[in-house]
Amino acid sequence: MSVLIKGGLVVTASDSTVADVFVDDERISLIGEDLDVQADKVIDAAGKYVLPGCIDPHTHLDMPFGGTVTIDDVESGQTSAAFGGTTCHVDFCIQGKGQTFAQALDDWRAKANGRQMIDMGYHMAVTDLAEGGTLEELASLPEQGVTSYKLFMAYKGALMVDDETLFRTMEVAAKTGALVMVHAENGDVVDILVREALEAGHTEPLYHALTRPPEAEGEATNRAIQLAHLAGAPLYVVHVTCKEAVDPIAAARANGWDVWGETCTQYFFTSLDDISKPNFEGAKYVFSPPVRDKSNWDVLWNAVRTDALSAISTDHCAFSFEGQKSLGKDDFSKIPNGGPGIEDRLRMIHEFGVRAGRISLNRMVELLATNPAKLFGLYPRKGTIAVGSDADLVVFDPNKQVTLSVQSSHSKVDYNLYEGTQVTGSPEVVLLRGHVLVENDELVASPGIGQYVARARYGEELKPVRTSVA
Ligand code: URP
Ligand code: ZN
Ligand code: ZN
Repeated sequence: MSVLIKGGLVVTASDSTVADVFVDDERISLIGEDLDVQADKVIDAAGKYVLPGCIDPHTHLDMPFGGTVTIDDVESGQTSAAFGGTTCHVDFCIQGKGQTFAQALDDWRAKANGRQMIDMGYHMAVTDLAEGGTLEELASLPEQGVTSYKLFMAYKGALMVDDETLFRTMEVAAKTGALVMVHAENGDVVDILVREALEAGHTEPLYHALTRPPEAEGEATNRAIQLAHLAGAPLYVVHVTCKEAVDPIAAARANGWDVWGETCTQYFFTSLDDISKPNFEGAKYVFSPPVRDKSNWDVLWNAVRTDALSAISTDHCAFSFEGQKSLGKDDFSKIPNGGPGIEDRLRMIHEFGVRAGRISLNRMVELLATNPAKLFGLYPRKGTIAVGSDADLVVFDPNKQVTLSVQSSHSKVDYNLYEGTQVTGSPEVVLLRGHVLVENDELVASPGIGQYVARARYGEELKPVRTSVA
């Protein structure tokens, strides 16, 4: 199947040029002015942007957590992603206690097989090197295209690892060319603060934020940076929320250390005001690290502008308000941690980043597509618009007015963090390897179209490949 996208503003991390894009056999085959080619499908993109499909490097689909399971499975989560202009994501495969990494991957692949709507890869969340996976097995994961290891420095008694596991994993990563990712909060300190708050009779959602202070995030971020430097491993700090964590990342980067940081859409827009909402509404804003004081919004915009932070993900980890968040009605520590957002990232960052003049259109593409692709071994097959790259493309109408809401979203979750927010600019056509996924707010593709992508090692390129017969 061939597609000709005519006359759009083709936007990459570095350039914006009016051009035609010709797609043949799943890849971009020509880019140029007034291309004289025949195509099975022609899309008039005059007045529209043509963007690389966005890549979400941080999601949790069908994940057991907090006494329940995230409400979006692979099909619903990826459908929601597609409507939001995301054509590839990297989900966390969580090693269960006592499990080998191979067993964990089998479990995660079983959840995805036949249901995929977009392309995807896995990070391996290392939770147990004592009775589960071994260091040798960990070292072999990059051969299967799993080229990033994630460690939780929080969630004591559940996913949290000690410094020995953290450091040993970093040593393996330094040898195998994997990128180490950390959830950076001091879990021991948080655990004490949570118990003290509950003993004092504080049960409401606000105490989730008050017991996970910015200092706990700053301390763990700095610890991970120093340990990664010692081990010689590259480090990526996920979901950075505050100045206390941005500062050590910026300092490490200024030193030339191999340290990267990500924030998530929600941290630009939510605050302690939201988690303080009455009638348990605050539970919708219980995720970790928590919402912060609003003064951090500018800190984060500055950080993504200056490349102290280099990617914006969603950390989509959706739990419904009714029946899931309600598990913690009488005890904030039992509210499942996580929030939705896989569909809203591009529209929100375009509206409040690009249209508000905080970042350029090119920088938005870099933060949402190109940098995630480069950091996670998907580039240049994905994350840009270039001859030979996968034809993962978003025809984006910069003038379409949309009101974000739970009704119009495609996730299974029963609330939207940005309910009622009006934005101008929305995906009109979304293509995955040249196949139309979404057109004019309708889902066109069927489950199974998405594929597993074996990612390249950190710092290496993923060469484009043909996946179908011409
Ligand atoms: O609250 C969150 N972020 N839940 C998902 C797991 C994690 O920490 O990323
Ligand atoms: Zn986390
Ligand atoms: Zn997460």
